[in-house]
Amino acid sequence: MTEKNTWVLACGADEIDAEDVVRFDYGDRTFSVYRTVDNEYYATDGYCTHERVHLADGLVMGHLIECPKHNGRFDYTTGRAKRKPVCVDLQTYQVKVEGGNVYIAL
Ligand code: FES
Repeated sequence: MTEKNTWVLACGADEIDAEDVVRFDYGDRTFSVYRTVDNEYYATDGYCTHERVHLADGLVMGHLIECPKHNGRFDYTTGRAKRKPVCVDLQTYQVKVEGGNVYIAL
């Protein structure tokens, strides 16, 4: 996180089920915010890097998010593309949980 980043309130921590994802729109940007089974939170860009599809409509399996369109997969903790057809990594964002809310650094 650089000096220019700002913490933006994305959602309540309880608004995401364990091993699930929610969509968060901010201005003209869209993000996916994830919660692991261990109650850790992560955030990535909201669109798949293959086509403009919301990853929040996909399936979370462990630390992977599976895109709903062509079943490409990413590790949402690192952004790494894990299964074709995706080959471009996802942008990830720093996350913090404070006062029962999830904030991402934008
Ligand atoms: S749009 Fe996500 S894998 Fe094709």
